[in-house]
Amino acid sequence: MKELKIQPIKNGTVIDHITAGNAVKVLHILGIPTSSSSTVSVAMNVNSKYGKKDIVKVENRELDPYEVDKIALIAPKATINIIRDYEVAEKHRVKLPEEVIGIVRCSNPTCVSNSREPVKSRFIVLKKDPIQIKCYYCEREPEDIAERII
Ligand code: CTP
Ligand code: ZN
Repeated sequence: MKELKIQPIKNGTVIDHITAGNAVKVLHILGIPTSSSSTVSVAMNVNSKYGKKDIVKVENRELDPYEVDKIALIAPKATINIIRDYEVAEKHRVKLPEEVIGIVRCSNPTCVSNSREPVKSRFIVLKKDPIQIKCYYCEREPEDIAERII
């Protein structure tokens, strides 16, 4: 029988296989608790087939694709499980696009994407796991991507 660390949920989203230690960053991306009153449970450093992982369960809420792209940046192995009436109705592996647009702020203060010009930030994905990205405009490679998510 499977060991249950946290209760199954009836409806909502389970973000599973989060890189251990990154659950708090996922909560931040989802605007929890600041702009969301959903019931949320978090498990950290859970043993799994592939080593330690974190899990975040958000009740009565399905994530939008923009949030899923942000999660891919900090948890490249994460799965998004949509739960309906206690069943896993959908399971998606997060997927990083070739380019990340409007999601991460460039670490170069003089980059055109940080100027008054209406230029959205744009990064080329060099490596997916661990993630490595390069600014399309100034070629700067930000170190702590999670800190720079808009
Ligand atoms: N889950 C949940 N509530 C439910 C159903 C599932 O919280 N009503 C959680 C499970 O605990 C698990 C995740 O959703 O963390 C995915 O469920 P499931 O696909 O059944 O688990 P696995 O087969 O282990 O998933 P994977 O193969 O992706 O590791
Ligand atoms: Zn730049």
